[in-house]
Amino acid sequence: MLNHQPVLLSPALKGLNLQPNGIYVDCTFGRGGHTRAILDQLDQNSRVLAFDQDPDAVQAAQSLIDSRFTIIHSNFAELTKHITGKVNGIFLDLGVSSPQLDDSSRGFSFMRDGPLDMRMNPSEGISVGEWLYEAKIEEITEVLRTYGEERHAKRIAQAIVAAREEAELKTTHQLANLIRAVYPKSRKPELKHPATRSFQALRIFINRELEQLKTLLTQVLDLLAPGGRLVIISFHSLEDRIVKRFIRDCVRGDDFPIDLPITADALRPTLRAIGKPIFPSETEINENPRSRSAIMRVAERTNN
Ligand SMILES: C[S@@+](CC[C@H](N)C(=O)[O-])C[C@H]1O[C@@H](n2cnc3c(N)ncnc32)[C@H](O)[C@@H]1O
Repeated sequence: MLNHQPVLLSPALKGLNLQPNGIYVDCTFGRGGHTRAILDQLDQNSRVLAFDQDPDAVQAAQSLIDSRFTIIHSNFAELTKHITGKVNGIFLDLGVSSPQLDDSSRGFSFMRDGPLDMRMNPSEGISVGEWLYEAKIEEITEVLRTYGEERHAKRIAQAIVAAREEAELKTTHQLANLIRAVYPKSRKPELKHPATRSFQALRIFINRELEQLKTLLTQVLDLLAPGGRLVIISFHSLEDRIVKRFIRDCVRGDDFPIDLPITADALRPTLRAIGKPIFPSETEINENPRSRSAIMRVAERTNN
């Protein structure tokens, strides 16, 4: 079985401030590393409800036989369609899992040749290959720039459009080789494959990752019980910025006009930030290099 090593496991458990009889939501089950550790620390009356949009993750969850655990095959953007009432913690470990990256048939990695797909839920939407076949140069450029901060976005987009006149780009290696061929050569040793940023951009775009995160955040305040914790691990600055701003706005409270004289208690903050952002230790990064870009934020629901 392809495996996934959970990132920032101990700090995440600590951040959730687990209550013995608590109800917890793991929005990103993956291979259940965090879910299993949460269950280990809870007692018999507790519950863990987990989400994943990937059918392979949901399949893997079938091996977790525990009456306190439920897996829900859904996008976490639909959280409140599946859960009502209050919960004691909501956890997210964003992005893709190692099994998704390592399975060449999913098309997430330029290191492995496979169909150019990259959908976390392959039964929804269109694949990256299909999108690249029909998108305008400007759209491709915009996606590579916005979600990959790729400086050579236009050059890559032009090359993609020129190549598809000949034939549709069908595999990850076709795309990775095309990007390498048009990428300006650097005199410095190459630290990253030139396709790294483009693959990240296309994955974020095709799965609408930032939109789904924003939609989820609009639901967490209603679901969290007072004192309940929100713990989010992000893997790139675009995600983390959304989380950081959300927490900041909730900590600040109601959005009164700037010149309206009000007292601090009128602001009614809905979240309290817990500590500073947490990063993996050097030991964790050495043991699990995929943890290197992780950043975790924790906040607690107030009574407001
Ligand atoms: C980094 S992995 C989680 C790993 C997990 N914490 C573990 O220890 O095994 C992220 C998982 O979240 C899922 N995922 C990402 N975005 C999602 C979304 N919007 N809705 C539901 N699942 C999502 C992915 O399919 C993937 O399985």
